[in-house]
Parts: sequence; C-alpha cells; structure tokens
Amino acid sequence: METKRWNVNVNKSNDKAAIEEAAALLKDGETVAFPTETVYGLGADATNENAVAKIFAAKGRPQDNPLIAHVATKAQLKRLVDDIPPYAEKLMDLFSPGPITYILPTNGTCSENVTAGLSTVGVRIPDHPVARELLKTCDIPIAAPSANVSGKPSPTLANHVWEDLQGKISGLLDAGATGVGVESTVLDCTQDIPIILRPGGVTKEQLEEVVGTVIVDPALANKNASPKAPGMKYRHYSPEVPMWLVKGSVERVQQLIDDEREKGIKIGVLASSQTSAKLEVEEIYPLGDNIHEIAAHLYDGLRKYKQGDVDLIICEAFSDSGIGQAVMNRLQKAATEYIVEGN
Ligand code: TXA
Ligand code: MG
Repeated sequence: METKRWNVNVNKSNDKAAIEEAAALLKDGETVAFPTETVYGLGADATNENAVAKIFAAKGRPQDNPLIAHVATKAQLKRLVDDIPPYAEKLMDLFSPGPITYILPTNGTCSENVTAGLSTVGVRIPDHPVARELLKTCDIPIAAPSANVSGKPSPTLANHVWEDLQGKISGLLDAGATGVGVESTVLDCTQDIPIILRPGGVTKEQLEEVVGTVIVDPALANKNASPKAPGMKYRHYSPEVPMWLVKGSVERVQQLIDDEREKGIKIGVLASSQTSAKLEVEEIYPLGDNIHEIAAHLYDGLRKYKQGDVDLIICEAFSDSGIGQAVMNRLQKAATEYIVEGN
C-alpha cells in the first residue's frame, strides 16, 4: 500500500485541500494518521467495522484493547454516549477540547471493535488545529489509537509514524511535533466518583480542583492487579534495548554508568537538562528543563537509542506530581528495571 504524506499547517489554504483529501479517505473506510495535541493518532471511521479492523491490522494491536472515538464538538460527543453525569459535563466544559478521554456508556453508534465489546466507549475532543479541521471536515467520529506499532513508544513526530507504519496505512498528515507529548488522561465517568484509568495530559490535581475527589485505578501501582483500561496491562512504550529507570542522586546515576561502561556496555542516557549537564557519558539526550518539556520529548527519547548503537538506556526518574504522574507511568512501563537508591 502506498502511504500518502501531506505537510500541513491549517492556516495555509492549500493545506485545506490536503485535509479534504485525508477526510475523503477516512469517509471511504481507509486509515489516516493525524496529529493531536498529545501524540499522533491513527484514524478510521468509528462507525465502520471494516475500517476499524484496518487500524488493528496496521498496528498489530490486541483485539481486546478498545479505541478512543474522536469528535470535533460536544454535540457530536453526546451523540455517541448515554448517561453523562453532571461532573463529566463540568469537566467537558473546562477541559475539552483537550487531553482528556471520558469513558461513558456507549449508545451503540461506534462499531463493536471500537469498544472491544464493552458497554462503554472512550470519547475525546482533541485540541489541535489539524485534528479539529479534519474532524469537522469528515463529520464522523474517528476511532484513533496512538499511531505506533503496538508495544512501541507513541509517536510525537510524523517521522515516528512513518518509521512504524509507512506502507501499512493510506495517509499521514504531517504537522510537525505534537504538543503535550504524553497521551490523554483516560477518565472512567460511569461511577459516582471519577476514576483515572490512565494518567495523562490533564492532571489529577486539575481534575480534583473541579470535582473534588478523584480515584486513581489502584491497579496502576500494583503489578499483579488487572487494570480497568484493557490497554494498560500490556508492555508498552518499549525502547529497542533494555532500560533502567533510576531514582537517586546524580552521583548514583554516574556510578551506575561507570560500572556498566567498565564491563564494555554501551550506555545511552535520558535525563533532565540540568542532570545531563552534570553527567559524564558519550550518549545523552537532555529531555528538557522542566517536566512539561520532558513530557514533550519523552517518546522521542525512548525511540532515539537503537539496537547496535547502545546496549542499555539509563533514564533518570522524575517527580510524579502534576504531569509527572503520566511521565512516570510511561517510564515504569518502558523500563526493564526500576532502581531506587538506598533499596
Ligand atoms: O492522547 C490520546 O489519547 C491518543 C490520541 C491519538 O488521541 N490516543 C491514545 O489511544 O492514546 P490508545 O488506543 O493508544 O490508548 C487508549 C487507552 C487504552 O489504554 C485503552 O485500553 C483505553 O484507553 N480505553 C479505550 N476505551 C476504553 C473503555 N471503553 N474502557 C476502558 N478503557 C478504555
Ligand atoms: Mg497507545
């Protein structure tokens, strides 16, 4: 299959033509990758079972992992679900469009393979000009998981999508780097108290300011429990080589690097810019000065080190408050070892 690639910036009129072409492919039952404010998504018509099946095939995604339906407006969102509780309405008014997905009872509009047979569906209004223009133009709900091969880090650059899915999808709208860098917060809104099934771009602190108590799915912190979001149980975000996540002083990280280097192990490091400046190592990717920059560069960092170039990634652990909760959730899934100084 030939994958068509368009460079887009919605403010240019000739890019409207690219978005129209992409929308036509989607309406025709084909798959197109597009940017959102979190990561690139791989879209297909959420009401068309055959189209949705193409997403699972291209990604190699397990069939029991449901997809998020993306829409342009709250009115469209409400056409897919039943029983929106007042707290969810409140959250929608404040955070949508934005990096949050609401899990609500499905009314059956999305096809069975979007919901993986569950009685609920995830719905989200992305906040990216290209995504919004695309969704408005096709005027159908678009099912879209992250546009990566299953198990690999999500794509925050069009080149990440190209690397994984070129030849397996019909199109790719390239609008450069996405913004937030980690995926949307998945929030179960079917209970009296909302439950975070996946930490993401809207933080627990932000949600609690609006609705009071918010629960975090306890399975996220317990390796033996089974999480409520089916996708959270799979190994995910895996770099090509083993990765140690290290919580400790710069001296401790340096010591681990030196010990491994002595054994002939080639090391690649991921760390904040401040830590990077203090470490002595050949291969290092400074992720940024603050947790927002770190989130934005995280998946590019996890994709940077290829087999053959380095043998082991050593990654600094960050504080898990605010968006750090999403960053640390992804890093703990990506890591083969979590080393805590003093343990
Ligand atoms: O930021 C995002 O959310 C990106 C962009 C493209 O919108 N999408 C994304 O989709 O991350 P995906 O498929 O990679 O992750 C969706 C997560 C999975 O963990 C899935 O199991 C969970 O949401 N999910 C989807 N529908 C669900 C449902 N009805 N009940 C529980 N969990 C659900
Ligand atoms: Mg994903």
